[in-house]
Formats: sequence, C-alpha cells, structure tokens
Amino acid sequence: MSAVKPYTADGSKREQVERMFDSISPKYDLLNRLLSFGTDQSWRRKVMRSVGQENVRELLDVATGTADLAIMAAKQVDRVTGADISEGMLGFGREKVKKAGLSSRVELVRGDAADLPFADNRFDAITVAFGVRNFEDLDRGVRGMLRVLKPNGRLFVLEFSKPHGWMRPFFHFYFHRIMPAIGRLVSKDSAAYTYLPASVDAFPEGPAFVAILRNCGGREVTSRSLTGGIATLYIARK
Ligand SMILES: C[S@@+](CC[C@H](N)C(=O)[O-])C[C@H]1O[C@@H](n2cnc3c(N)ncnc32)[C@H](O)[C@@H]1O
Repeated sequence: MSAVKPYTADGSKREQVERMFDSISPKYDLLNRLLSFGTDQSWRRKVMRSVGQENVRELLDVATGTADLAIMAAKQVDRVTGADISEGMLGFGREKVKKAGLSSRVELVRGDAADLPFADNRFDAITVAFGVRNFEDLDRGVRGMLRVLKPNGRLFVLEFSKPHGWMRPFFHFYFHRIMPAIGRLVSKDSAAYTYLPASVDAFPEGPAFVAILRNCGGREVTSRSLTGGIATLYIARK
C-alpha cells in the first residue's frame, strides 16, 4: 500500500507533513482542544504519569509540535528537549515555553526522528505524542529515537487508534465526517483534517506496532488502550 500523504500521492511524505503542520500551526492548539473536547491533555497527563515511574532527569519529546507535552514534562523532570520538523509548530511552541517561564529548562530544536541531532545514548526517556503516524519511514523513525535513548531508558509513544465495541461507528462518523469539516473551516487547510483520519486508518496500530517496536530493538514492550481505544500508549525499553 502506498503511504498516506497530506496533499498529493507523489512527492515526499516528510515535506508534505512539514508543509501541512506549518500551515495549520496557528490554529493547531485550538483545534486540538475543540476536536478532542479537551481529552488530548488528559492523554498527555497519562503519558507523564507513566514517565514519573522512572528515574528521569533529561527527557526528549520527539514531534513536539507546539510543545504541550514538553511543557508538561518540565513540571517533573530537570531538562526537556523538544524536536520537530516543522518550524511553524516550533515557533508557537517557543512562545508558550517563554510564557510559562521555562526557557532555561526547555529547548526546542528542528530535527527529524530518523536523523536526530543528538549523540547516541543521551536521554533518560523519550516521549512522542501523535507523531509516529506522520513519519515518512516508521522503522527509521523508531530506530532513530532508540539510538539517542540511554540503554534501559524507556520510549513512550502516544498515538491515535481505532476504538473497539459500540464506540467504533460513532467515532468513525465523527472522525471522518464532522472533524474534517470543522478542521477545514477553522484551519483553512482543506487537506489536513482529511489526512488525519486517513493516517490513523493506515497506521499499524496495536499488536502490529508492538511488533515494530520489538523489531527495532525495543524490549518489554507494552500497549495500553485509552478512552475505549481512541488512543493507545505504547511503552518500550531500550
Ligand atoms: C499531530 S502533531 C503532534 C504534536 C505534539 N506532539 C502534540 O502532542 O500536540 C505531529 C507533529 O509531528 C511532527 N513530525 C512529523 N514527522 C516528523 C519527523 N519525522 N520527525 C520529527 N517530527 C515530525 C509534525 O511536524 C507535527 O508537529
């Protein structure tokens, strides 16, 4: 199957994803809160509760976007670095970091998960929220993150999945019909919020992603469904 891309079937996914997030960055936070009814922040809090079970001083947040998770992480770890390919998203993130008075402890840099500008084995823990389904090459992205993680450190991956049971048809209708319409209206990017459900549908979720994490070198891999399976938290140890 060819990769799901935001704008056109040909051309690199990475460039299109970067362009799309640059384009929607001014409205990204508003749409997140609106479209998830605030649940997105409660999912990020769950990630940080799991991180809190480890001894973490320096954390890397990959695909940090506008830095919601990086800012949350700074409340419980000494030093946070956020990396993202979209300068547009990072710009809004830097403003938020400054407003929160966290500039001395949170740094946001441009970087691709597959080729991060950091030394091997540097970070105590790595988080990535709603990022991995956007990677051009999922294997290279996961291996790239594990490379900069300390041996025995943990990688926390939060990603959308498809809910099970009675929620499934309702969620499908909301995700494929209502959300793209609101997303288009607010962000003025007609493709971005159609790409969102399409990329979630195409993502190898659950056991398939657990297998990818293992094949890329992760150990003790677990997955936990959140909110009836709308999102999943995967954890792997290096
Ligand atoms: C849906 S946003 C999530 C942002 C943030 N983590 C959050 O929870 O709101 C996805 C982000 O992944 C970034 N991204 C996509 N591919 C990437 C890659 N290969 N390396 C780093 N960041 C990437 C995009 O630029 C975008 O900011």
